[in-house]
Amino acid sequence: MGSPLSVSIALVANSQGNKIAQRIKGRKSKLFTPQHQAQGETHFHQATLGLYVRPVECDKLIWMENSSDRPARRRRYSGRNPQNFEDKYKEHRSEVYPSDIAKVIERGQTPAGMHRPIMVSEILDALQLVPGNIAVDCTVGYGGHAGEMLLAIQPGGKFLGVDADPLELAKTEVRLRALVPDDASIELRRMNFAGLTAFLIEQAPEGVDALLADLGVSSMQLDDPARGFSFKFDGPLDMRMNPQRGLPASDWLFTIDQATLSQILFENSDEANAETIAKAILLAHAKQPLQTTLALVQVIRSSVLRLSDADQEMTVRRVFQALRIAVNDELRSLDAFLRQLPYWMRKGGRIAILTFHSGEDRRVKSAFKQGLQEGLYSQVSREVIRASAAEQRSNGRSSSAKLRVAIRS
Ligand SMILES: C[S@@+](CC[C@H](N)C(=O)[O-])C[C@H]1O[C@@H](n2cnc3c(N)ncnc32)[C@H](O)[C@@H]1O
Repeated sequence: MGSPLSVSIALVANSQGNKIAQRIKGRKSKLFTPQHQAQGETHFHQATLGLYVRPVECDKLIWMENSSDRPARRRRYSGRNPQNFEDKYKEHRSEVYPSDIAKVIERGQTPAGMHRPIMVSEILDALQLVPGNIAVDCTVGYGGHAGEMLLAIQPGGKFLGVDADPLELAKTEVRLRALVPDDASIELRRMNFAGLTAFLIEQAPEGVDALLADLGVSSMQLDDPARGFSFKFDGPLDMRMNPQRGLPASDWLFTIDQATLSQILFENSDEANAETIAKAILLAHAKQPLQTTLALVQVIRSSVLRLSDADQEMTVRRVFQALRIAVNDELRSLDAFLRQLPYWMRKGGRIAILTFHSGEDRRVKSAFKQGLQEGLYSQVSREVIRASAAEQRSNGRSSSAKLRVAIRS
């Protein structure tokens, strides 16, 4: 068991909560159950004690801690209310503190450790799920859409869900399994949706009735400084959806030249100052490797000093988006996904895809149009569907969302 900490205890429970507790180095074990997980305990302990929690499989966690036997205590924060992501312990335990969560949402914010699903009713209208359907969510995330899809196909339906992120998928699986009595109606897999064919050959060889892809990253990923996507709080410059694969952004920057970086900034986020920023980032990185998110923010801001503060922030936002897309090779995965998509669907099968920037939407629009011309789809959206004004007001992240729908012929 490799761990950066001195390991004294390992605790394992399966998804039914059965004890598979182990003693290591003769110390007493305490059971870590899916209920702990559902209450956000993984994050709590990670944050307060610096524990290292490593999901091994979707239904198992190994929890390792260093040698203190004292019970975990919440970290102290200054002031009356927690400011840091990891200190917002109530938000991380939505099941225990529902009224606090409601207040955060009322303020138009997303509680820490949660993701608010976007355009749920529009997506359910588009997918027209009925009991007995086979439905796939290719981007399960927090499970907001997945939970609605899962309930709509009961009884008798089968829900298949995938996500590239092993850390969040393990927690989401607990939430989704708690929604239905029949464990066999859910199958989740950590994988890139570009490789869905193998999963569907195994789970739905006859094809699927409905499929959703809600592209990009979740609020849990974006807001958690430890994941390295946040430009507001400092963290390691990582940005990987799956931290066990590929290179963190800090290393990826060593592999890229100025012209390519400039092109990435332009293509992935329409950045007007792409050349200047690419030059500044690579010069700074060569001088002193950029290891943290705020170090990168500093370089981006200083490269566009003539802009207003608000425009500098928009620039930082765009550059982070462009780098995240590149580090995770998101557009190549999307192209591979769109090529295979029609062949996964049953006749009449319905597809909904939510995109968040023009590079994604262009691809979806053109793949749907081509599929229509080739007779693979009987109908595709002529116009994008947008979130209602009320949703855009209550959840700013919905304002850039574009929904497109297609029906398999
Ligand atoms: C916007 S979130 C989905 C939120 C989800 N619909 C919900 O209601 O909670 C996007 C999710 O897609 C995942 N993702 C992005 N690209 C992926 C890919 N190529 N393969 C699998 N998962 C991917 C991310 O890890 C993230 O969890």
